[in-house]
Amino acid sequence: MKFVEYGEIVENIKIGANAYKMTIVLPKISAEAKPGQFVNVYTGLGEMILPRPISINEYDAEKGTLAIIYQVSGKGSEYFTTLPVGTEVRCVGPLGNGFMIDNEIKKNIIVGGGIGLPPLVELIKHLDGENHVFIGSRTTPILVERLEELGAKVHIATDDGSVGFKGNVVQLLDEVKPEGGMIYSCGPKVMLKYLAKWAMENNIPCQVSLEERMACGIGACVGCAIKIQKKGESDWQHLKVCKDGPVFFGDEVIWDE
Ligand SMILES: Cc1cc2nc3c(=O)[nH]c(=O)nc-3n(C[C@H](O)[C@H](O)[C@H](O)COP(=O)(O)OP(=O)(O)OC[C@H]3O[C@@H](n4cnc5c(N)ncnc54)[C@H](O)[C@@H]3O)c2cc1C
Ligand code: FES
Repeated sequence: MKFVEYGEIVENIKIGANAYKMTIVLPKISAEAKPGQFVNVYTGLGEMILPRPISINEYDAEKGTLAIIYQVSGKGSEYFTTLPVGTEVRCVGPLGNGFMIDNEIKKNIIVGGGIGLPPLVELIKHLDGENHVFIGSRTTPILVERLEELGAKVHIATDDGSVGFKGNVVQLLDEVKPEGGMIYSCGPKVMLKYLAKWAMENNIPCQVSLEERMACGIGACVGCAIKIQKKGESDWQHLKVCKDGPVFFGDEVIWDE
């Protein structure tokens, strides 16, 4: 079930070079949320009618709060940085289906690229097994302390080699060759494409959380359609990232489009 809620911002702080954390009081949405889902956040401005879809970073159903982490990539996200504590924002959520959690699995591989990392924090709170997080980042990544606090073993790859392995996160996986029963991932599409390929070669099921440009965010337009070929089916079909995803199995996505 999804809700429209006007929530008060209780925190809106810079946490990285281009990353901000906003915590909002959203009791209904936080009570229903699952790891990997997202919320549509509205600017409330006439010139920016469409909502901005942002992954849920963490939620606390008892406190009725929900946190998002966003980077400035355009006018809407720039505007979010200016909102002081106490401002009310219109949010719709929780949206999408989130990750399919399998707690029979004792060792999980979690892969996050750049601003794809935030939803993986809530995810690991729900995973019973050992969590090995692989981060791909241009430079010093965000959220490492929080992930370690939650008991995850963190491995880092940076493009410039300033922290951890020099290279991309799939090259790091190839170097470490971790064992695991499931890969849970979120990040740029190109990273997810090569990760899905790596997972197939290594026989590890891989869930990818995709990011497509969205308009409505609730399944009412076809702005976010992608091609998916379900296992056992002879042909592909168009599915909506906002409603049918954003999480899919990597070997079901038709990547080269
Ligand atoms: C399921 C999902 C989860 C996401 N989670 C996060 C997150 O946790 N943190 C974060 O920083 N960003 C996240 N994004 C990307 C975020 O939605 C865009 O960066 C943001 O909408 C850009 O808005 P803007 O006004 O700053 O940019 P503009 O380019 O000015 O936006 C113009 C329009 O295009 C849409 N748009 C632009 N880029 C994207 C995009 N990448 N995906 C979808 N719509 C887009 C906007 O919503 C807006 O309607 C997510 C996107 C999706 C689809
Ligand atoms: S954004 Fe409208 S259907 Fe997905």
